[in-house]
Formats: sequence, structure tokens, C-alpha cells
Amino acid sequence: MIRFEEVVKKYGDAVILDQISFEIKEGEFAVLIGPSGCGKTTTLKTINRLIEPEAGRIYVEGKDIMDANPVQLRRKIGYVIQEIGLFPNMTVAQNIAVVPKRLKYSKEEIEQITRDLLDMVNMSYEEYAHKYPSELSGGQQQRIGVLRALAASPPIVLMDEPFGALDPMTRNVLQDEIIRLHKKLKKTIVFVTHDMDEALKLADTIIFMDQGKIVQMAGPDEMLENPASDLIKQFMGKRLSENGVNSLTAADFMKSHPASAYRSDGVKKSTQIMARRQIDTLLIKNEDETYAGSVTIGNIRKFGKQAQTIGEIPVTPNAVSYTKDDAADSFEKLLDSDSDFVVVLHDNDTIAGIVTKTSMARAMADALWGDES
Ligand SMILES: Nc1ncnc2c1ncn2[C@@H]1O[C@H](COP(=O)(O)OP(=O)(O)O)[C@@H](O)[C@H]1O
Ligand SMILES: [Mg+2]
Repeated sequence: MIRFEEVVKKYGDAVILDQISFEIKEGEFAVLIGPSGCGKTTTLKTINRLIEPEAGRIYVEGKDIMDANPVQLRRKIGYVIQEIGLFPNMTVAQNIAVVPKRLKYSKEEIEQITRDLLDMVNMSYEEYAHKYPSELSGGQQQRIGVLRALAASPPIVLMDEPFGALDPMTRNVLQDEIIRLHKKLKKTIVFVTHDMDEALKLADTIIFMDQGKIVQMAGPDEMLENPASDLIKQFMGKRLSENGVNSLTAADFMKSHPASAYRSDGVKKSTQIMARRQIDTLLIKNEDETYAGSVTIGNIRKFGKQAQTIGEIPVTPNAVSYTKDDAADSFEKLLDSDSDFVVVLHDNDTIAGIVTKTSMARAMADALWGDES
């Protein structure tokens, strides 16, 4: 589908692509990864002739792209970049229609395409088609960027760090979406990232580049098991841990909204909360919302009679994690402490949730058996 033969790109004396050769099959999801400046974007742009190499050959669908008309070539190739690049003065529908319009599709066809595409990412046509990019969240804008690249149903889609600017949560959702779209539409995708977790999640094949060369090209499992260089190992490092849940954070596994009370809350009210939620420990907050510790039902029984407020009862500290900490670290803390839970805090020390042994068991199950359950 896409074949590189000893492709060389230079800027002056600097060799940017150093005789790279690889082949990406039809329908494959290929991910180009490597450190900043290694030549990922340059490689991508040679595929649609935004950059032309000094030597070597590139074939798309069996034809040398230098024999093709660049405009016709680009019609076969959708292109998504990190900076979204939506036209701010055009609505969502107009943005999606840019290429189909240029290809002289009829008005009806264009509307149908737009409806179908929005439908695929669960954005309703009625609600979103006539909005402007500035009225959308970053994640929604990037979705439209992806849809726009798909609008003329090109067999190939190039994506250059498309989710790089999004927050981790949105990024995760869009990664799941692109996996779904790829399964459904069976496009050949070349996706650039510098995030190994993203590569492992998305790729059929990972192409690892360093200093203009391909260091390894392999499936995710093969690369995890047999990384071909120390640099690849380093990229994998974050991800590699015995239990495989290292890349997930405490926030991914915590239960949100655990029962809590202010120090100044009455003892009676606090015990009622505990009874209602069937818990034997209550998290305590300072008046500024920061986490203070917890009180146990045992201590309430012991000291509750003399106390007016819950803060007068001994408040004991618990093991804490922060939302961005590795889930594996929180689990270790949980196992090391004799408490049944670890308190997860936001950066400003307010309570975000708790990680319990049940959340841990779930995480282990996911890591061991994937999402087949
Ligand atoms: N127009 C240019 N002129 C000179 N050097 C360039 C140009 N574009 C890119 N480079 C250099 O080529 C190398 C590879 O760039 P790029 O492909 O953008 O890397 P990546 O996408 O992997 O971060 C970098 O060292 C970059 O500085
Ligand atoms: Mg780049």
C-alpha cells in the first residue's frame, strides 16, 4: 500500500531521512514513533508530497508517487495534524465539506456524508453541524479535524500527533474512537506519536525511528518483548512493569465521591452518614476542603459521647496518593498499609477519591485478561 525504498531527505548537509525503507500494508494501522526531531513528520509529509526526497522511491498503491499529480495524490490521502487547523470562520459542516466540495460532490451527498461522519463520533448533526469551532471543546474540535480528513473517504489517512494537545482523559476517548473508526472503515493509517502508550494501544505495527533511521519495525507485543535498542527500552520503560498497570494512574481506579465530613460537623450527623453508606471509616476535611485524615467507627464509639464535633475525635492519617500517580504505586501503598483504602488527592490536597482492594482487583483483572470480560 505504502512502500519506501531507501528514501533520503537532506536539508543542506543535515541528513534528515537516512535511506529509510519500509512497507505498510493495506488496512494496516502503522504508528511512527521516536524522539523529537528524529524525522517522523518529515516521513509523513513525503507520503503526500508535501516534502520531496533527494533520493529513493515511494510507492502508494503500487505507483511511484513522483509519477502522480500531487493534487490527485492528496485526494487519496487524508491528513490530520495536532494544531487541528479547522477554519475558524466556517461551521462544523462547512469544515467537513471542504474536500467533498472541491471534488464537486452534490449538496445532498455532502449533507449525507456530514451526517454519517458526525454520527460515527456520536455528535448529533442537529446540535453540532452549524456551530463554529470556537464553540467546541478541544476534543470536539480534534474530532472534527479527523472527520474532515475522512470526508472524501480516502484509502489512506496520515495523522501527525493528532491528540498531542489534548488532556489525558479526552485523549483516551479519542484513541478509542480512532480504533473503532479504523475497524469500521478499514483505512490504512499512518499515525505519528512520541508516546509509547499511545503507540502500543493503537498500532498493528510500530515503526521506531531515531536520527533519520528505522531502528525497529514490529507489532506491539514483539516490540514489548524484544525491544531492539536501549532507546526503545527507555521508551517502553514507563510502560513495563510486572503487572502491566503501570501506565494507569490512581485516578483511573479510584472511586470518586467517598463519604466525608468537615471537622466542624456534628458527631451525630457524621455517624448517620456512615450508617447510610454502610462504611466504618469517614474521611475528614479541613474547613478549606483539604484532606485531614479519617475517623473510625471504633473511635467514635470510644470518644463520641464527650465530643460535639467529629474533629474532636482522633483523626488518623491514611496512606495517600495523588491523582496522577501510577496506579501501581497506589496499589503498593494499599498492600503496605493495614488500611482498606488509599486516599487519592488532587494536587491542591482536596479529596479526589479512594482506591480500595476492589478497585485493585479490577485493575489486575483488566491487565491480565484485557477487556474480554
Ligand atoms: N525545513 C527544514 N529545514 C531544515 N531542517 C528541518 C526542516 N524541517 C525539519 N528539519 C529538521 O529535520 C529533523 C526532523 O524533523 P521532523 O521530521 O519534524 O521531526 P519529528 O517530527 O520526528 O519531531 C529535525 O532535526 C528538524 O530540525
Ligand atoms: Mg513532528
